[in-house]
Amino acid sequence: MQAAVIRQKFLRFFEDHGHQVVPSAPIVPAGDPTLLFTAAGMVQFKDVFLGLEQRSYRRAVSVQKCMRAGGKHNDLDQVGVTARHQTFFEMLGNFSFGDYFKEEAIRLAWGFLLGELGLSPDVLWVTVFETDDEAYQLWQEVAGVSPDRIVRLGAHDNFWAMGDTGPCGPCSEIYVDRGPEHACGPHCGLGQCECDRFTEIWNLVFMQYDRDAEGELMPLPRPSIDTGMGLDRVAAYMQGVDSNFETDLFRPIIAAIEKLSGASYAPGPEGMPFRVIADHIRAITFLLAEGVSFSNEGRGYVMRRILRRAMRFGMMLGFEEPFLYQLVPQVGRVMGEAYPEVVNGEDSIQALVQQEEQRFLSTLSAGLRVLEQKLEEIPAGGVLSGADAFQLYDTFGFPLDLTRDAALERGIGVDEAAFDQLMAEQRERARQNRARMAELLPEQAASEFLGYETLVLNDEPLQALYVERDPVTRLEAGMSGIVYLARTPFYPEGGGQVGDVGLMTSETGKARVVDTVKSGSAIYHLVEVDEGFLAQGQPTYLRVDEDRRHGAMRNHTGTHLLHAALRDVLGQEVHQTGSLVAPDRLRFDFAYPKALTAEQIEAIEDLVNRWVLADIPVSIDFLSKDEALKRGALAFFGDKYGETVRVITVPGASQELCGGTHCSRTGQIGLFAIVEEASVGGGSRRIEAVTGMNALRAFRRQRQVIGDLQQVMVGTPEPELVSRVAALQEEVKRLDALRQETERRERAKLGRDLADQVAPVGPVKFLVAEVDADSPEALREVLDGAKTVVDGAILAARHGERASLLVYFGDQIRLQGHQARQLVKPLSQIIGGGGGGRDDLAQAGGKKPDAIPALLQEARQWVDKTFGMAG
Ligand code: ALA
Repeated sequence: MQAAVIRQKFLRFFEDHGHQVVPSAPIVPAGDPTLLFTAAGMVQFKDVFLGLEQRSYRRAVSVQKCMRAGGKHNDLDQVGVTARHQTFFEMLGNFSFGDYFKEEAIRLAWGFLLGELGLSPDVLWVTVFETDDEAYQLWQEVAGVSPDRIVRLGAHDNFWAMGDTGPCGPCSEIYVDRGPEHACGPHCGLGQCECDRFTEIWNLVFMQYDRDAEGELMPLPRPSIDTGMGLDRVAAYMQGVDSNFETDLFRPIIAAIEKLSGASYAPGPEGMPFRVIADHIRAITFLLAEGVSFSNEGRGYVMRRILRRAMRFGMMLGFEEPFLYQLVPQVGRVMGEAYPEVVNGEDSIQALVQQEEQRFLSTLSAGLRVLEQKLEEIPAGGVLSGADAFQLYDTFGFPLDLTRDAALERGIGVDEAAFDQLMAEQRERARQNRARMAELLPEQAASEFLGYETLVLNDEPLQALYVERDPVTRLEAGMSGIVYLARTPFYPEGGGQVGDVGLMTSETGKARVVDTVKSGSAIYHLVEVDEGFLAQGQPTYLRVDEDRRHGAMRNHTGTHLLHAALRDVLGQEVHQTGSLVAPDRLRFDFAYPKALTAEQIEAIEDLVNRWVLADIPVSIDFLSKDEALKRGALAFFGDKYGETVRVITVPGASQELCGGTHCSRTGQIGLFAIVEEASVGGGSRRIEAVTGMNALRAFRRQRQVIGDLQQVMVGTPEPELVSRVAALQEEVKRLDALRQETERRERAKLGRDLADQVAPVGPVKFLVAEVDADSPEALREVLDGAKTVVDGAILAARHGERASLLVYFGDQIRLQGHQARQLVKPLSQIIGGGGGGRDDLAQAGGKKPDAIPALLQEARQWVDKTFGMAG
């Protein structure tokens, strides 16, 4: 049975049993900082289980894209070792939100396995949480499982939690017995060994608790059901193969690796590189398709590690060049029908993978050199310090596991505890840097944001005042503080848009609002009191700085148009990876592998400005999330959306979920101009643009520069400026070459003149002199002149703090068995340096120019001794 058929049957079966079919949520969980990746089907329903969010249905079914790498659920190191661990996989799951509980969950699961997949009850076993007598009974009564096939296990196996906090509960797992021929030994048994004879395929979680930050279990509003069945595992069983990697989900990818490497796959340990690579390239492809970028922290870092692990295994198959990227289209062929995103973004995914592979290869060679040096100094049996390992990691991005492997090859250990300590310190420093104002603020009830409609508000009472974290009753002139209000027109920083600034006045005082931030749903105003004082409870008059807000609005609507234009011009797979909407500019980051061409930039500007000139009315609607997505509105990972969402639509151009403030018509944006396009690393590009008066200012600045340039170029008309400047540069180059040639001739002449004055010593003419030359090259030019006259020369010159030396032996001297290379060594020591070269010409540099006379004296003695006596 093909994996695609299993997916379909699963959705159909539960739909027929009253479940709403819900599409997979992104692997990057929406607005949930507690989770690195979606590791289970229930993640998108977390708030529904907790009773914080209501849905129109109480039963759901999904096939969820999952990642178990990094974070709490991390199988990375197991991938390739076993037949059934993966980083990326699909989880089939059915959910009840306070609707059915244990009994119906068991009935449905059993019904699907027997009725739809046609499994025989003889191959099925189940486990229950050790104290869950109810489940133990139900399996017998509802499913007819005999008690000797129901195993009680402890919390390690049969208590499931999403993360350190959040919904959790006891669970019950269904296993298939693949037969005694797969037994690992006489004591093989479910719950007794870890071998592959009994393979867990389905986990039914009886969601009952919410675990809080202290680890305390609080009962959920209503007991619920969360189940998860690994598609790849079920497919392996249904297809009668021994591992997930032999299913129709993996076999074609492994075949592609075989073809690229020329090696053949085998199921045992030799096959590990194939399994690792196949799993990892799927994971990377899906993450890139969702817009994750390679980076040194968070998700991007996990993805980077996955890629590097795949490459290291690739090296075992003989790959020395980037190769992973060539597998991306094969992932598309296998997964594209169920997940079109991996096919749509294929070209840019490939390019990003290739770039990252290239980067890793360069890192490897730079880091390896440094590592080799460090290891040279350590005897076998010694230990590489944590500080060295950390430096390799921090400066060269050289992963610890590579350091460990390389050290191990020489019998050297690595102080990993010290390394971990340094890593922890670095993380803590980063965290402190990030610790934002808002995080430090006390908790308050949600504030009502009125700023969509108005920029002023009168008589709003000052609810709470703080200096740093401490509540105060008054803020006096000269003080900086924080003001919490229940209602406010000030927009708090969010969705890329910066916080509003403005004025806050009361009967007794006047303050500037210098920033506005949000903590939870409470809005806080960072104020500086200029006159008098503000007191708690006083009514205030609030006024948002209109210019700055309007600037931000122009830039926010401009950002949406830019995003739409980017997708039009570069391709629909372009993903936002970050943005900043400030009053004076906008910045937009997106995953794209190449620098944009001038034509692309112009095409993007043209498109945005056409939308601006069409003066399209911007509409704001509140829709159900499903409806919004159905209409094609763009939503972003990392943003949390409730069931009702705010949708900003520019008809014919853009539609996005967004909480920011916007223009009412596109014409208000004014001129939209891109001022910069650059790389921000990790396969992301950054565009900075300006709108409105700021675009005018940018234009004026450039007009000024051109005007100044014209003046300097004595009235050159604008169209001729470039060619005139280029011609000037050519002229400068030509004159420079001329000057160099003249100087060269002069130096050669100097050399000849000096040589002409040399009296023969025995049979040879030998020049020993200090000459005036300001670089080693100039000295050589002097020698070039002298060479035409003398048989040998020793020339020295000083340039600033350094000395240089040339030793030249012509044929006659060399025929007597002398080598310039040998003489340069002792001579260069006199000027505190070293050198080398050929038999006929050797050079040296030194840092003691004052020793040049001593050197020359030594040289003369050598000449006299060597040739004088012979003569
Ligand atoms: N959430 C449960 C699991 O991941 C079903 O195993």
